[in-house]
Amino acid sequence: MPATIVLGAQWGDEGKGRVVDVFAEHADFVVRYQGGNNAGHTIIVGDQRLALSLIPSGILYPNCIPVIASGTVVDPKVLLAEMDMAAEKNLDPSRVRLSANAHLIMPWHRKLDAVKERYLGRNQIGTTRKGIGPAYTDKYARTGIRVQDLFDPKIFASKVETALEDVNKVLPRVYNTLPMAGDQIVEEYLGYAERLEPHVTDTSLLLWEGLQQGKQVLFEGAQGTLLDVDHGTYPFVTSSNPTAGGALVGSGIGPKAVDEIIGVAKAYISRVGTGPFPTELHDEIGDKMIELGGEYGTVTGRRRRCGWLDLVALRYATRINTFTRLFLTKLDILSAFDTIKVAVAYRYQGEVFTEFPRQQRVLYECEPIYEELHGWKTDISGARSFGDLPPEARAYVEYISERVGVPIGWVSVGPERSQMIEID
Ligand code: GDP
Ligand code: IMO
Ligand code: MG
Repeated sequence: MPATIVLGAQWGDEGKGRVVDVFAEHADFVVRYQGGNNAGHTIIVGDQRLALSLIPSGILYPNCIPVIASGTVVDPKVLLAEMDMAAEKNLDPSRVRLSANAHLIMPWHRKLDAVKERYLGRNQIGTTRKGIGPAYTDKYARTGIRVQDLFDPKIFASKVETALEDVNKVLPRVYNTLPMAGDQIVEEYLGYAERLEPHVTDTSLLLWEGLQQGKQVLFEGAQGTLLDVDHGTYPFVTSSNPTAGGALVGSGIGPKAVDEIIGVAKAYISRVGTGPFPTELHDEIGDKMIELGGEYGTVTGRRRRCGWLDLVALRYATRINTFTRLFLTKLDILSAFDTIKVAVAYRYQGEVFTEFPRQQRVLYECEPIYEELHGWKTDISGARSFGDLPPEARAYVEYISERVGVPIGWVSVGPERSQMIEID
């Protein structure tokens, strides 16, 4: 079966964009199945840098069809701007396909995201403020507005009016902000409809037909396993399911179509936004990871929190997703350190946890139990085969694979497309 899922094994920003870009060369479709423009996927080819938030990374290959499937939430203004940006870079956006069932991010979703966070104060999630949570809230409350509604102006206007009846009570009374004008929103959004129309289709059918013809489908996860609304560190998560099951639900493809599930993990770990993070480093090692790894958010520019690789979490992600192989990114960043630590368990109130704890408190208050490995302290960015890596770096990769129980199929040693190693 020709479908492969690529998804984040940590808290996002693992390098999914660059990984998908590698596999997209042989894909006929690359599919975003959840999330929206909270994602920021960076691809570097030569001296060209592309940061994508909604358009799947397959856009770089002229024969590949980028698909934005039903499980996503789409801000049409952002999507159109991203298509324009792609066109400016001589990438053809006319191939992008958008599900008629995808939900729209409306202006009040962005507004609510921002004011809710402000009101949460110290307890805020640290969202990207793109309206993701409120858009999914409406979806599950069955009051959302979908892409297909844009093509029925009467229905669209009435849905906006209904939604605003509620929103315009909440904004001034609860959040002390101005109400929103429906007419302007309807006019703005119907203005997008014409440009979006040629892209809108039944993406589930499109993919099913492709699979029937033996075409290759590549699913591109956004965010990561630990940000999954069901399996992540709730409530410090996103509002969708980045995990492997989410690829099926979000695209309308059955599980039997998938034969490979690739987990993308950094050689260390990062997190942006609030929430528990057992291996977080607040010292100069953490600062060095941020500095050398360029750990600043693609979408928000926020400084990412960094720490040593957490094998408890990685084994958990492997179980939740049934990874068939791992792609380990940013190994080059660890070249800076004399010794490299890896968390193999957590200690909390005298108890040792080797499995991801069911009680969130443990994640906040535990002390990671580390094993130490030798660093290699040499530049590995030019390595192109496993044998090119120093023995300590090979030992690190083999150690992770052994401890997680899944082969590491690839390692990357720099952000550029060619800076990677395939491991037999
Ligand atoms: P994504 O959201 O999972 O696609 O990841 P991001 O693009 O947000 O963040 C990953 C960052 O690391 C990007 O700036 C990439 O260019 C960069 N990157 C990816 N792989 C490597 C690597 O192997 N080495 C280095 N040094 N940077 C990398
Ligand atoms: P990619 O696809 C890292 C985080 C936010 C916040 C939480 C909820 O680039 O890996 P949201 O706006 O989704 O309601 O925010 O999730 N978050 C991400 N962190 N990478 C991402 O995407 C993220 N998308 C959301 O920082 O903590
Ligand atoms: Mg990112």
